[in-house]
Amino acid sequence: MLIVQVRISLSGTNHMRITWTTSFPTPATVFYGTSPGNFTFSANGSTNMYHYLKYTSGEIHDVVIGPLNPNTSYYYRCGIKSSPEFSFKTPPARFPIKFAVAGDLGQTARTSSTLENIAKSNYDVLILPGDLSYADMRQKKWDTFGLLVQPLASKRPWMVTQGNHEIEKFPKIHRRRFTSYNARWLMPYEESGSPSNLFYSFEVAGVHVIMLGSYTEFGAGSNQYRWLKGDLGKVDRRRTPWLVVVVHAPWYNSNVAHQGEYEGVGMRSVMEDVLYGARVDVVFAGHVHAYERFVRVYKDKANNCGPVYITAGAGGNREGLALRFLDPQPKISAFRDPTFGHGQFSILNSTLALWTWHRNNDKDGVASDKVWLKSFASDPACYNVHISLSGENNVRISWITSDPTPAVVYYGTSPGANSFSANGSTNQYKYLLYRSGEIHNVIIGPLNRNTVYYYRCGSTSSPELTFKTPPSQFPIKFSVLGDPGQTEWTKTTLDHISKSDYDVLLLPGDLS
Ligand SMILES: [Fe+2]
Ligand SMILES: [Fe+2]
Repeated sequence: MLIVQVRISLSGTNHMRITWTTSFPTPATVFYGTSPGNFTFSANGSTNMYHYLKYTSGEIHDVVIGPLNPNTSYYYRCGIKSSPEFSFKTPPARFPIKFAVAGDLGQTARTSSTLENIAKSNYDVLILPGDLSYADMRQKKWDTFGLLVQPLASKRPWMVTQGNHEIEKFPKIHRRRFTSYNARWLMPYEESGSPSNLFYSFEVAGVHVIMLGSYTEFGAGSNQYRWLKGDLGKVDRRRTPWLVVVVHAPWYNSNVAHQGEYEGVGMRSVMEDVLYGARVDVVFAGHVHAYERFVRVYKDKANNCGPVYITAGAGGNREGLALRFLDPQPKISAFRDPTFGHGQFSILNSTLALWTWHRNNDKDGVASDKVWLKSFASDPACYNVHISLSGENNVRISWITSDPTPAVVYYGTSPGANSFSANGSTNQYKYLLYRSGEIHNVIIGPLNRNTVYYYRCGSTSSPELTFKTPPSQFPIKFSVLGDPGQTEWTKTTLDHISKSDYDVLLLPGDLS
């Protein structure tokens, strides 16, 4: 066959990159349309090839097509109009959306089994957290991997990041890293303002996904670190309420395999604060050939405001499973299972998502692990915001950030409307070795009584919160809460108070 290894990936807003390989020179052209055999549109792209020791690749063609409509089937042919027809479906414009997640695929019978199950899952986009072909310098294995995944990867976008098996450095003879990976698996790095194919981000249906590179520099002065901070600064939780990060080497891992590796714990020591401060919802990893899910974590401890960490590195590769876990199971490890399989991340709306793990050996798509996740965008609890009365008809808004941000509040009386804004001040304090975040205070008003206000702290793209002002006349209800602390009992008390429809809370001391 002339046209082989056809696959697609997302490329900026409403565009798709089509990639394929030919053994003879053919044009980098894609013909496409919304009905079979009817090619209303065409687009041109570029062609490249690479050499690796004695191996010379075929012509690798990349063409970006679009703008495309969301949730629509497209039919396409690569190179020439008489070539075989393929089709794909674009992801939806808004929720619900379903991701399939499978790392460390390789190309064994177990890989085929994983791919069969993924094909049945009705997913929209596949996320592959590294270790793709396990070619390990035998370049023809990249070609067979391309053929193996084509039935799926030509129908739905596959978004990948690199693993250690993609490095393929050969001492003295081939010093360049990622030669084959970069030539074959071009990802939308330029579209996301990244200087390297080894880290990038994309947005789809209300989800911002950041694909980090575990095997390229990640230190505080590195390009990747700088780009990550810039990319997080562009995240707008109104547009993308969900924030997902993908790495290859897991930052949290209670398997005996790959314990304490620099790419995992070293990267975590540099970047954990950044992800925590940005309220990342989930971090996916591969590398460890097993499944493990952690609770929300920050600095080795359960923390309701940290990301959920999930390792899904059991796609089916030739190295086999990582069978041994540390004993006893750490408290922060919620579920671990050394079997081959894949995960599904179904985001229902801006608030709720379902994560499920599907072993290859279980029939009929049964999930062996299942957990509902609530987005941080829908949950003001982790933004450290509180309000208080401040003179007649004014309210003081206080919040804390880990990075310098402006002390500004945008507010109005309807959702999304930021009719007014007000500026305030920022302070910080030190206590022994502890240094606080930036504590912002902004007074807003004059406000109407007994009225619901919507507000955002720091920027118009931060999560929207609401409050109700107290009435101007009786009746009025106070809640009185002393010595709350922060135990399970405190949570119960707060639960009861939140159901009481009070106007103002009085706290007679002993807060935290
Ligand atoms: Fe692996
Ligand atoms: Fe790996």
